[in-house]
Amino acid sequence: MSRTKLLFLSADDARRALPMPDAVEAMKQAFAELSAGQAIVPQRIHMPLPHAGGDVLFMPAAGIDAGQISMKIITLFEGNHAKGLPFIHALIVLVDGLDGRPLAIMDGAMITAIRTGAASGAATDLLARANSETVAVFGAGIQAQTQLEAVCAVRPIVRASVFDSNTLAAMEFETEMSERLGIPVTAASSARANLAEADIVCTATTSETPVFDDADLTPGVHINAVGSYKPLVREIPSETVVRARLVVDETTAILEEAGDLLIPINEGLIGPSHICAELGQIVSGDKTGRRNDDEVTLFKSVGIAIQDLAAAGRILTNARRDGLGTELDF
Ligand SMILES: NC(=O)c1ccc[n+]([C@@H]2O[C@H](COP(=O)([O-])OP(=O)(O)OC[C@H]3O[C@@H](n4cnc5c(N)ncnc54)[C@H](O)[C@@H]3O)[C@@H](O)[C@H]2O)c1
Repeated sequence: MSRTKLLFLSADDARRALPMPDAVEAMKQAFAELSAGQAIVPQRIHMPLPHAGGDVLFMPAAGIDAGQISMKIITLFEGNHAKGLPFIHALIVLVDGLDGRPLAIMDGAMITAIRTGAASGAATDLLARANSETVAVFGAGIQAQTQLEAVCAVRPIVRASVFDSNTLAAMEFETEMSERLGIPVTAASSARANLAEADIVCTATTSETPVFDDADLTPGVHINAVGSYKPLVREIPSETVVRARLVVDETTAILEEAGDLLIPINEGLIGPSHICAELGQIVSGDKTGRRNDDEVTLFKSVGIAIQDLAAAGRILTNARRDGLGTELDF
């Protein structure tokens, strides 16, 4: 009997194996398959750990065509920054979907950041005005970094700004992202200053309440909102959600988890039918995205396991091609 070989891929390996433009294309394809019913994606299990101030999510997915199964365990611990640790840790296991052989174990935190940014990149490509040049980012954590990177991959961005309630984090973001992207990225002094002239807005914070005022948005702005994944937590004000053309990653998950939408629904301002489309339906052309230059478009994601499967599958293929990772005997 042949021995099973398992590939271990670090965060650095994942980063090298899946450049952002490829990740954006992978997410378009994954969301189109999801909306067309070509993937098996059970609702994720959310296990709160109130005694430790944390949450664990168990996220399985299987592709029908790809022949692979993925499982991500992702932890989110609020007190981690004070300990010098990241807010999010994650592990992805990839298994052969036809014979059950374990194929790879990967650092899931980097993959989460890449695929979350890439989903917003795909949404931006499909929904933002073609002439968008400026980006305002809320939050200066790892998700904020990949949000900005992904938007820059799909639009000719000339400058960006960031606002974080932690000024030091915003200043570090300014330095690192200016250098990495080769455009001026400046820390804004307030949420309002951050929004001035922004064509595209990305919210990637841990805030429990709206991070900006609706009145400060410019006409025709496109917003990617990724932060909230709990019913009572939101980043986007009700007024913005109500007037925006709303596109989501996956309807059932959004109606289960996204406070950005559930709070205005509970306020009686909108109903579930306020969701215009899933991103996959915009990719396939089944639904219309932006209708004019003045419309506000909003992409709300909570994160779907098909994204992990799509990213991990490509990372494994490319890692094998490029000789990345460490092979382990299973
Ligand atoms: N949609 C998805 O697929 C997806 C995937 C991964 C993570 N997330 C979510 O993205 C968010 C960010 O994750 P991260 O790993 O970058 O976290 P992080 O803790 O590294 O960064 C979050 C930043 O938000 C800042 N912040 C908090 N309140 C703010 C406010 N009112 N205004 C401006 N900044 C504020 C914090 O100071 C912090 O720097 C989390 O809520 C996480 O759950 C979503």
